Amino acid sequence: MKPAHKKYALAEVPRYTSYPTAVQFHDGIGAADYGQWLSQISAGEPLSLYLHIPFCKKMCWYCGCHTSVAHTYDRVGAYAHDLLAEIDLLAAALPAHHGGVAHVHFGGGSPTLLNDVDFAAICAKITMAFGTRDDMELAVEIDPRTMNAQKAKTLAKAGVSRASLGVQDFNTHVQEKINRIQPFEQVKQSVDWLRGAGVEAINFDLIYGLPGQSVDDVRHSAELALSLCPDRLAVFGYAHVPWFKKHQEMIDTSDLPGMEERFAEAKMVGKVLEGAGYIAVGFDHYAHPDDDMAKAVKAGTLRRNFQGYTTDAADILLGLGASSIGALGPGYVQNSPSLDQWRKAIHAGKLPVVRGVELQGEDAMRRAAIMTLMSAMKLDLGAHARAFNAPENALDDALVKLSPLVEDGLVHIDGQHVHVTDVGWVFVRNIAACFDTHWQASAGRHSKAV
Ligand SMILES: C[S@@+](CC[C@H](N)C(=O)[O-])C[C@H]1O[C@@H](n2cnc3c(N)ncnc32)[C@H](O)[C@@H]1O
Ligand code: SF4
Repeated sequence: MKPAHKKYALAEVPRYTSYPTAVQFHDGIGAADYGQWLSQISAGEPLSLYLHIPFCKKMCWYCGCHTSVAHTYDRVGAYAHDLLAEIDLLAAALPAHHGGVAHVHFGGGSPTLLNDVDFAAICAKITMAFGTRDDMELAVEIDPRTMNAQKAKTLAKAGVSRASLGVQDFNTHVQEKINRIQPFEQVKQSVDWLRGAGVEAINFDLIYGLPGQSVDDVRHSAELALSLCPDRLAVFGYAHVPWFKKHQEMIDTSDLPGMEERFAEAKMVGKVLEGAGYIAVGFDHYAHPDDDMAKAVKAGTLRRNFQGYTTDAADILLGLGASSIGALGPGYVQNSPSLDQWRKAIHAGKLPVVRGVELQGEDAMRRAAIMTLMSAMKLDLGAHARAFNAPENALDDALVKLSPLVEDGLVHIDGQHVHVTDVGWVFVRNIAACFDTHWQASAGRHSKAV
């Protein structure tokens, strides 16, 4: 890494899965605002759903997700039951004229901890309560350690079309340090079961920057991952935030690769995957050229939402389950992360929203600028401002903030056209931050850029 680029890699910048980001959410937004925003949904508007299942079999020491270990099925089963009630509450709050569900994503935690009966019941309830569109995609995050042949059949029967498997790293010595023993054969078997049952699209999550991991380890993991022909890969840099996730204290910080090593690991994954013909998608995804995401990159239709890069075209994302986030035209809402509070609200017949943020002033224009830049890696500032009926120079403050990044070769500016350079691609979060009027460089609130 060039010395001039180190400050960008070390900067703590948002991932911009929303704008304003979750740091700006406050408890002044609640169920009443959500109800009003839902009532404003236009006729025919397609809906996207995110369902959060906050349970896992065992805690991975690196985990940054909202989850806890379920030692018995009782807690999971009770949660599934309450989720059915939340679906009914949400459906009742929606205007009847919405356009049905275009995309469903089960995330977590580990949605595959749901037993077959509960998973099928939730999917059936979604169809009944909201109606689904013919081209609906149903995606599920999968912990391969919870898979079996029957579960693969249940997922396929319920209409699951895409499975995202948590792979992270294939090296035993790294797996030992992260409390996640998951041999290659176990992942391969899960992929075989899923494909055999008819779940066609397979995604993998890989992580670099893990304890004890080297550039060689990352290359080995990427090569093994490729041997299973995934359709997409998400490649995350390990975010070490022990003040926020206590179990990460189990990771010995002296085992963590330094910034230069992390950067080399990120580059190595890119080299292996692009060398095999995969297309780089934004700063942390790769897709097989035949996959819809690679096609979206070419067509300029790639989007970004709470799951990161997506081909989901719906403008409305509705969250279900504890801690879920919803995105609507007027703003964002978040359900209570506390299982107890979430459940109490549902039992009281209330939508369990406890915080959010309403878009104000230039937020909608800046949100679209950031999302376009992070997806297309270019932006015409003048045309963008005009599309929002704003003055031609409305984003000129960003040009000033971008000038050091231009000098450091991350961005090229031609008049009002901003282009992310090949070098800048990995730092696109730092570039996006120049358009963010809420962001304060505050330690500990966001992960490092690389
Ligand atoms: C909900 S999990 C995926 C499904 C399932 N729970 C599993 O791990 O197999 C979402 C993904 O987030 C990523 N992840 C979790 N904690 C992370 C962290 N601290 N830093 C970077 N990525 C992380 C992992 O790649 C993980 O697969
Ligand atoms: S990485 Fe996945 S399986 Fe591991 S604790 Fe987090 S959510 Fe659970």
